[in-house]
Amino acid sequence: MTTVDNDLTTPALAEAERHTAHNYHPLPVVIAEAEGAWVTDVDGRRYLDCLAGYSALNFGHRHPALIDAARQQLDRVTLTSRAFGHDQLGPFCAELAELVGKQLVLPMNTGAEAVESAIKVARKWGYQVKGVPDGQATIIVAGGNFHGRTTTIISFSDDPDARADFGPYTPGFRTVPYGDAAALADAIDEHTVAVLLEPVQGEAGVILPPPGYLGRVRELCTRDNVLFIADEIQSGLARTGRTLACEHYGVVPDMYLLGKALGGGVVPVSAVVADRDVLGVLRPGQHGSTFGGNPLACAVGRAVVAILGTGEYQHRARRLGEHLHRELDALVGHGVTAVRCLGLWAGVDIDPTLGTGREVCARLLERGVLAKDTHGATIRLAPPLVVEHDELSWAVAALHAVLTDMSRHDAPPTSVFLLS
Ligand SMILES: Cc1ncc(COP(=O)(O)O)c(C=O)c1O
Repeated sequence: MTTVDNDLTTPALAEAERHTAHNYHPLPVVIAEAEGAWVTDVDGRRYLDCLAGYSALNFGHRHPALIDAARQQLDRVTLTSRAFGHDQLGPFCAELAELVGKQLVLPMNTGAEAVESAIKVARKWGYQVKGVPDGQATIIVAGGNFHGRTTTIISFSDDPDARADFGPYTPGFRTVPYGDAAALADAIDEHTVAVLLEPVQGEAGVILPPPGYLGRVRELCTRDNVLFIADEIQSGLARTGRTLACEHYGVVPDMYLLGKALGGGVVPVSAVVADRDVLGVLRPGQHGSTFGGNPLACAVGRAVVAILGTGEYQHRARRLGEHLHRELDALVGHGVTAVRCLGLWAGVDIDPTLGTGREVCARLLERGVLAKDTHGATIRLAPPLVVEHDELSWAVAALHAVLTDMSRHDAPPTSVFLLS
């Protein structure tokens, strides 16, 4: 990468390399500051953030209302544990439940915790309400899923990196192909307590459900008394142009799993949101987390819910998403083989003969665009929803330039695109 006078990036990368577990393979950039859709590295270079913390930063870096809510709460109380009540918990849960159209909220911290919580709730519901024999509950999941990294969750992943050498695996899951309602119908039996799906598969490369699929999942779940759990941790909270991706398909699941943007990119906040007949199965002592539903998280979460209540960001995602989609479509045949978009969320398949998605992202970095590859030759674009129309055009032009360079088999660029 480029060396600049008084280079602070190289030593910072080296220190992280020496002392950090190597469970990530980050691009060589060291961010020091951020605002809105832009970040600045330790050497003063600016980059357009087209990943947005995997959609945790839907409202941009350091949204003023979110920072203000956090600051105010920092001056009051930050942690009580759930052993005691606090004055942000009730309002947060009430406001989030109303936003999503359900009755109860189980607040947690990370996305994986929300998924784990939903699995426990579904199993308990299966034994206590559906009458499944003890220890026999099964949950059906989709091929290509990504729901997090805990031992139970990776037990039903089909990604070898996520799974290999982490066994023994948690039993009780059955995988069917994503988008195949007939396979789902065949897989459901009297022991099935839930179907757990991402309405749009994010990590898999922004894979959209085939027409009618989610509606059919809803019908099957209702018919066979099975809970439909929608993991909206990445797809939810305005990213797709609606508060929830399920709205695009006219389906209402039994449980929503939310995370990422629920904490506004400020604190980790996740939640399971469902009606009383489902979440009501949990009794004291059966589930919990020291930090789950803490005052700081709830205060920031309330500010997120208030922002979502205006509809402004859902509207921006729709409008800007149409623009992004149009511009990306123009690259098909020019180094891009396919584009999938919903709202301001795009999966871009790169012609694998040009190189890997990782190479494309490394070259985008050199041009001032932060993006992330997934599954070999796919790039995921998910900028903060505060991004401007012209900034999107600029990022797509950078992608076009990168693909043009790669098609000419140019050497990697040696200069960084500096933005004033
Ligand atoms: C759909 C989905 N579910 C769950 C998770 C896990 O969230 P976390 O990384 O906060 O545990 C992710 C993370 O990318 C996700 O995309």
